[in-house]
Amino acid sequence: MEFDPLAFAGTAEYYSRGRPPYSTDIAEVMRHELSLDGNGRLLDVGCGPGVLELALAALFQRVIALDPEVGMLTEGARRCLHAGVDNVRWTQGVAEDIPVLEVAPCRAVTFGQSFHRVRRREVAELVFEVLEPGGSLVLISNAVVGRPQPESPGYPSIPHDAIEELIITYLGEGTRNYLERWKVEPPERFEVALSQSRFRGSRTVYAPGRPDLIRDIDAVVDNYFSMSYAAPRAFQVPSYDLELTEDRTLGNPLGIKGAGEAGATGAPPAVVSAILDALKPLGIDQIDMPATPQKIWQAIQERSAAKAAAE
Ligand SMILES: C[S@@+](CC[C@H](N)C(=O)[O-])C[C@H]1O[C@@H](n2cnc3c(N)ncnc32)[C@H](O)[C@@H]1O
Repeated sequence: MEFDPLAFAGTAEYYSRGRPPYSTDIAEVMRHELSLDGNGRLLDVGCGPGVLELALAALFQRVIALDPEVGMLTEGARRCLHAGVDNVRWTQGVAEDIPVLEVAPCRAVTFGQSFHRVRRREVAELVFEVLEPGGSLVLISNAVVGRPQPESPGYPSIPHDAIEELIITYLGEGTRNYLERWKVEPPERFEVALSQSRFRGSRTVYAPGRPDLIRDIDAVVDNYFSMSYAAPRAFQVPSYDLELTEDRTLGNPLGIKGAGEAGATGAPPAVVSAILDALKPLGIDQIDMPATPQKIWQAIQERSAAKAAAE
């Protein structure tokens, strides 16, 4: 798949709220299968908002979380900070950058639902180079088809087909074509790419599914907004009618009154206060407007580097 730098722009918070979680046993299965003992290094490629960092960081001494999307890295760093996970280095870049990241030797390299986004054969070879002897490349995803179905708790199932049609009515036939392309022409199976690399093959391991996963409406909407094809973007705002209403004030001879800006004045300081509250545990007490993900990311990096230098 061709790399699209905007594919996941704006999706990070929807992702962390809405994507169905992996198996609760994922860490235990990894620990057992790879004989992990809390040492060594993990490189997690396409880390998103820190999904695997939260689950797996305790199994390694150090984790390098790699993603091209700064919003994902910021959200991942925030969530790990909140959970007390402090052995992760957040790095902006793509899988194809692995040779210049200076991460070797790695005990494991993980791709959580991200291997389909890279040039698979080429990247498999790059991973092979940075693994320590006996190290593993681990591709993680949720599997539903062909897996045992737990008994239904009685709620209606999610009407995915109807939701997709609704999305297409807003985003157009280009989105339909994109979705159809994945169904008609699914990407080459990962096993094939790996068998043609120096890994020479692969093994599939299933962690037990979650029998009690019930999604409410907000979670379903967040999940769709976390998809690269359905993320809400400013340029996709539906058209709307604009009307002008003239209503002169009697308070001055010109009939002029301030409007518009006054109603919006409270919002920016409230947003910046919330950001500063979230960053307070790191000792960050200043973010200049506009508070872009890049600026927050930069401030976290600078503070982490200053803290590491002081230790
Ligand atoms: C579906 S999300 C997976 C997030 C997380 N790993 C998980 O398990 O849920 C895919 C992630 O891959 C990242 N990505 C896309 N192209 C990439 C590339 N060429 N190299 C590395 N990451 C990439 C995206 O920015 C996104 O955060």
